[in-house]
Amino acid sequence: MPHLRPFVAAVVRPIPITTREQRIAELDRAGHNPFNLPADKVSIDLLSDSGTGAVSVDQQAWAQRADERYAGAESFYRFRDAVRDIVPYRHILPVHQGRAAERVLFSALLGPGRISLSNTHFDTTRANVERLGAEARDLPCREAADLDSAEPFKGNIDVDAVREVLSGPDGSRVGQILITITNNGGGGQPVSMANLEAVSAVARAHGVPLILDAARFAENAWLVTRREPGYQDWTPREVARRAFELADGAIASLKKDGLSPEGAFIGVHDTDLADRCEVDVIATEGFRTYGGLTGHTMEQLAQGLREVLDPHYLEDREREAAFLAQRAQEAGVDTVRPAGLHAIYLNAGRVLPHLQPRHFPGHALACALYREGGIRCAELGSLYLGTFDAQNELVTPAPFELVRLALPRRVYDHSHLEYVAEILAGIAKNPERVPGYRLTHAPGVLRHFRCRTEPIAV
Ligand SMILES: Cc1ncc(COP(=O)(O)O)c(C=O)c1O
Repeated sequence: MPHLRPFVAAVVRPIPITTREQRIAELDRAGHNPFNLPADKVSIDLLSDSGTGAVSVDQQAWAQRADERYAGAESFYRFRDAVRDIVPYRHILPVHQGRAAERVLFSALLGPGRISLSNTHFDTTRANVERLGAEARDLPCREAADLDSAEPFKGNIDVDAVREVLSGPDGSRVGQILITITNNGGGGQPVSMANLEAVSAVARAHGVPLILDAARFAENAWLVTRREPGYQDWTPREVARRAFELADGAIASLKKDGLSPEGAFIGVHDTDLADRCEVDVIATEGFRTYGGLTGHTMEQLAQGLREVLDPHYLEDREREAAFLAQRAQEAGVDTVRPAGLHAIYLNAGRVLPHLQPRHFPGHALACALYREGGIRCAELGSLYLGTFDAQNELVTPAPFELVRLALPRRVYDHSHLEYVAEILAGIAKNPERVPGYRLTHAPGVLRHFRCRTEPIAV
């Protein structure tokens, strides 16, 4: 049976078409940082899959029924029930986006000298741990280090390493174990149910709360049904529910698998913990039945959460990502394997071997994609993860020089991805034409969002 895309566009937005000269001028104005580009000068925007998806006609229809009353609005109860259908926790608190959920929950679980263990803390997650004076310690499984292997669950946490920390001198300082599904900071790779079960048992044995950072809970569940023995006959909803059951709480940005431009939740069993979070949410986000969200958004989210676990939708997403990965590889550009769902990660270090990490090959490839095709994406290499001296010279490079092509949900079709692959192939044919970069302005924190760079001949 040939694949049939399970939706069509109901409302469209025109794509800006620019010339190469215009794009060169825009890059100059933006200090050669794609984050500074105005979106109306971007043709294909693969900077993020967060809050960038298309909403459905049913989401729009439900939004018309929004109840915007301050407390106890009907929209809140519909939202809460839709979350509880998947997330079986006693307490669900809405907040405006994922990092607010991080800030509130971590403030209740961590503090100076405490440790958060994770498969990989996402960037805002790490920032929210560190600003409390706590340590964010990543313990990815060994397989995660091999970008080329076909291992199905490279997002797993190293359970032996977790056990070792908990039984060692640092054990009493561990305030939480945080599992990111799928592992965004680790190439978008999924976490297996076997890994979740193992870490759940260890966490319970040591009395440490296990928390899911579940921004892509549906995509992780889908990959479990596809890759993990014993789960082929499970629905994505059943897998997602089981994953939440194995943990004590969760935070989830719903800008991804909530299929909405905003929203997140904190879910916990423990009533004392929920109470502490609730005080913070009321003081900083909004009353406990809206948490900074409109009724409009809560209705969209309730419907989005019903749609996102549809196997036809998830299969389509898997196919699109796999298609782009395959076309990139055919063009001679290695990608992190196996392809996940929310993004394709290009191995820029290999495509641009003439550029040393200090010339930022990932950033150079991201700028080249914009210059040659109006495609915007983000570097995940030394510019983002390296350490620098006072003169902005790179001291410690990132382990890999990657570029992330994030795939907004239900937005781009095959022809758009084909276009991206063609532009990529053109760059890969003459890689030596791609210049390196140097930093001209490098703020101490959140560098990649705010820096300016300039091209240099290498
Ligand atoms: C794994 C993960 N956690 C947390 C966040 C933060 O969510 P938000 O952007 O809604 O603040 C993101 C956002 O991309 C993410 O990917």
